[in-house]
Amino acid sequence: MYCVRQVTDQLYWVGANDRRLPLFENIHPIPRGISYNSYLLLDEAAVLFDTVDWSACRQLMENLEHLLDGRALDYVVIHHMEPDHGASLQAVLDRWPGVKLVATAMAFRFLDQFGVSSAGHERITVKDGDTRSFGKHTVTFLTAPMVHWPEVMVSFDQTTGALFSADAFGTFGALNGRLFNDEMDFDRDWLDEARRYYANIVGKYGDATQTLLKKAAALGDELKLICPLHGPVWRSDLRYFLDKYDKWSRYEPEEKGVAVIYGSMYGNTEQAADALAAALVERGLTQVSLWDVSSTHVSHLISEVFRLSHVVLASVTYNMGIYPPTLDLLEDMRALNVQNRTFAVLENGTWAPKSGELMGKFVTEELAGCTLLEPKLTLKSSLPAARAGELEALADAIAASVKGE
Ligand code: FEO
Repeated sequence: MYCVRQVTDQLYWVGANDRRLPLFENIHPIPRGISYNSYLLLDEAAVLFDTVDWSACRQLMENLEHLLDGRALDYVVIHHMEPDHGASLQAVLDRWPGVKLVATAMAFRFLDQFGVSSAGHERITVKDGDTRSFGKHTVTFLTAPMVHWPEVMVSFDQTTGALFSADAFGTFGALNGRLFNDEMDFDRDWLDEARRYYANIVGKYGDATQTLLKKAAALGDELKLICPLHGPVWRSDLRYFLDKYDKWSRYEPEEKGVAVIYGSMYGNTEQAADALAAALVERGLTQVSLWDVSSTHVSHLISEVFRLSHVVLASVTYNMGIYPPTLDLLEDMRALNVQNRTFAVLENGTWAPKSGELMGKFVTEELAGCTLLEPKLTLKSSLPAARAGELEALADAIAASVKGE
């Protein structure tokens, strides 16, 4: 059975939802699934903008057969060759032998590398700023390298004001019947997954995202729709999401607040982290969250680090180093280019506490624009009540920093 949604007069969403994949990119948990968005323009030419993951190929093909209704597909525009969008290309090429391909030169190279057999299909290589008319619709192609791969381009339909934005403006989560942002409570139900998607998938490439945002800004009021490769289509309040992307890609926090992330083996470090979180709330901070690094997937922690201005790392010392899950988080922060955050550290070690010194060194030497607050709180096995004043002093320092005092 087909499952399509009309986007504009001649444009249709023909993508699919995947609720069976446990891990996106075989790394990131997606308990709410994911959508692979694909769009079909039925103008004088029939144009498909991207395909879908192999797991959703059958749905894509049923959607296309339904809307084309015997008509041939004329073009496939490839914005991104990562297999969550390119894996069904072969099926489309085999089904419509006359279909022409439109992509950047690098995308064609990747297509060959992935083993897509396109013999007999005309290749139209486009560069930044090239345009092509498909009838009533004239489309401009804009390169967007490293959002999220180097071959990526986006395209802008001058007729409808639709920006096909590739991975940019995507989110995790299956669409479940709703397609447009105004059909859902995005801020309540989708923002966390949008941030987690951005931070973990595109987060490393803030500069590239800024370049794309400038291209989008140059479109001015002509920009009416954002059609990403994952998640909702934006047709209202575009500024809301553009602003989120602007903040995320400049590595600026959305909120002034503190993520307390603890690594605890027997509960003593956890107890201190709990007491610190309570002390922060008592000081009037409204954005305080507490996370167990061992039981929280790192993609959620990274997302929280992108959201908040301050991070407390509380970690036991393990093999004279940083607790491995905490070290994994730090290394992920470095890989994803986390910047401009304020950190505090709390260390524990029964005979030789060392993790605080190492975490502090990592934060100040490996993460751009990040600072470390004093004092460092050191536990030897546990935090006795007699030392509560030291924890209060740390809470004072963090609260003052969050409040800008
Ligand atoms: Fe949705 Fe970079 O692929």
